[in-house]
Amino acid sequence: MPVTSKEIYPQGSIPELLNPTFIAQVASRLFNEVPGGADAPRSETEVQAIPESSASSAHEHATHAAIPGDPAWQTGLPWFPPESREAGSGDSLYFVRNSGGQGDEKLEPHAERLTEQQSYSANRNGSYGLEEQLNRPQDPQSLLAGIPNLTPDAPNPGDEISFAFLRNLFAPFGNAAGLDNSTCIAEELLKRAASGSSVNPSAVETPQPELSPFYFLDAPRVSSPKLANADIFDVASVRRDFPALHQKVHGKPLVWLDNAATTQKPLSVIEALSNFYASDNSNIHRGAHTLAARATDAYEGAREKIRRFIGAGSSSEIIFVRGTTEAINLVAQTWGRKFIQPGDEILLSILEHHANIVPWQMLAQEKGAVIRVAPVDDHGEIILEEYARLLGPKTKLVSLTQASNGLGTILPVREMIRLAKRHDAKVLVDGAQSVAHIPVDVQDLDADFFVFSGHKIFGPAGIGALYGKKELLDVMPPWQGGGNMIKDVRFEHTIYNDAPAKFEAGTPSIGDAIGLGAALDYVSKLGLENIARYEHELTQYGTARLLEIPGLRLIGTAREKVGVLSFVLDGVPNEEVGRFLDREGIAVRTGHHCTQPSLRRFGVEGTVRPSLSLYNTKSEIDRLADAIRSIQRR
Ligand SMILES: Cc1ncc(COP(=O)(O)O)c(C=O)c1O
Repeated sequence: MPVTSKEIYPQGSIPELLNPTFIAQVASRLFNEVPGGADAPRSETEVQAIPESSASSAHEHATHAAIPGDPAWQTGLPWFPPESREAGSGDSLYFVRNSGGQGDEKLEPHAERLTEQQSYSANRNGSYGLEEQLNRPQDPQSLLAGIPNLTPDAPNPGDEISFAFLRNLFAPFGNAAGLDNSTCIAEELLKRAASGSSVNPSAVETPQPELSPFYFLDAPRVSSPKLANADIFDVASVRRDFPALHQKVHGKPLVWLDNAATTQKPLSVIEALSNFYASDNSNIHRGAHTLAARATDAYEGAREKIRRFIGAGSSSEIIFVRGTTEAINLVAQTWGRKFIQPGDEILLSILEHHANIVPWQMLAQEKGAVIRVAPVDDHGEIILEEYARLLGPKTKLVSLTQASNGLGTILPVREMIRLAKRHDAKVLVDGAQSVAHIPVDVQDLDADFFVFSGHKIFGPAGIGALYGKKELLDVMPPWQGGGNMIKDVRFEHTIYNDAPAKFEAGTPSIGDAIGLGAALDYVSKLGLENIARYEHELTQYGTARLLEIPGLRLIGTAREKVGVLSFVLDGVPNEEVGRFLDREGIAVRTGHHCTQPSLRRFGVEGTVRPSLSLYNTKSEIDRLADAIRSIQRR
């Protein structure tokens, strides 16, 4: 339960709130969102002492603390409108605009967007980082520097106003995070500030929870603060986040049912990309300047977001790649080339995407290894006994998709990994079709490698991730040579970097990595459990609607499915169905979907494949079903 400031903070601790550096740090994040705010101090070195003459109350000290001497800097600083200062509670904070008649601007919308987008990763290079600022040991005197009226022993009567200032500064973040009582964010921040300094150690008496309930302070959690306890999934509000959905194609409202090929992007991802290029663009890891530090911070922050999202133990186990295809090729060409020997067996399932077949074939040809294939039954479910029988002492690697892109089958990969481990085989899990639909925990799965593409989970194309267990990455040779992947280069000898840098030669796709981080934030906020529940219902509805259509044959009827509804229609070629649906504004994929062996198992060379995502609705499925019926009526 939230407690009041007085309960947690006995007299004397409140002044820590007013640490000008701290406020400048927070404010600088807020200012990124405000026109003209890019000039606000971004690092503590840019913050100068408050002009004493300009501070007449604790609140004003705090407000002015972020102003480096120039009155123009006051533009964009958050403040209480005068009428709310007295009450000091509840009221919104506003940004003061310069004279220009634009009026003050409420903080909330900016906070909401920042809560979505910002990376709060710690950064040791002097760039901003709320987490770091809060956790670093602080000298009590420097905390109070610039606030001459306040000392730990003699709290200023203005404390209440100061607290209200901070509380209001942070409340919008809480609102954005969907917290019931967002004002307690200020208390959480205070608590951390207090415990990180020696100003008043007795200030924090309340037992500390291990994790803050504020996801932007700790790990963004897989479950959304907004929806964690709710059964409802507000698809209408989700759809508003995706601009591409709100257009007409051939005069009809677009129905995007090609999600297994790629997903549409929410505004937060689009803005994360454009904000990066608008204000933080720099190469990473090398420059000793502010933009390089910001870009590095955001890039490494995205790596950390991936780590949390898939439950990896360390961010050094996460390697940025172009996507699933590149990740699998990387493993085949490094781990595979080193450890696969002639006669070794590589076990795949018949459901694999070509990206999880061809790289292993190439390796097998080079090494004289053998590919084995686990079959499925007539529903498209793996026949576990057959799979278990194919495992043996020669099996060195098992590579499995977690969800099939052609049939939608969700494979029991946890059980399949357990069986493979009995033979000491390594297991790669292809998460391209699962990661946006079902919660993944690589440690719980005990996967050795896990790979996915950003564009299938609302992130940019051209970026993805490879997770590898540390002990495996350590013994794998590098893949490509170049900058960043080395510790030392001489013409006689080069010493390679450790993972992940060892596998990231050259300038990576920095903006796209940041966009992927924003996409994972988006999904985390909605909560994958909520998404899975909603999509499951949608898949059942879609299956029932399609099965009502005479002459329609569903390919893939496994009990556990993601929302892939592959079908063929009697007497109508797939491509013709696709073209007709397109004219109705409905986007579906037709063809072999890069998974020919799985379709041939069902006697077809291709299908029409509507595939669902979190923003699809039952009424869109109705439109699909009606359109298919009208093809038959032609
Ligand atoms: C199961 C599966 N694996 C791998 C891939 C390849 O992904 P990408 O083209 O993003 O590398 C896909 C793409 O459709 C897929 O569905």
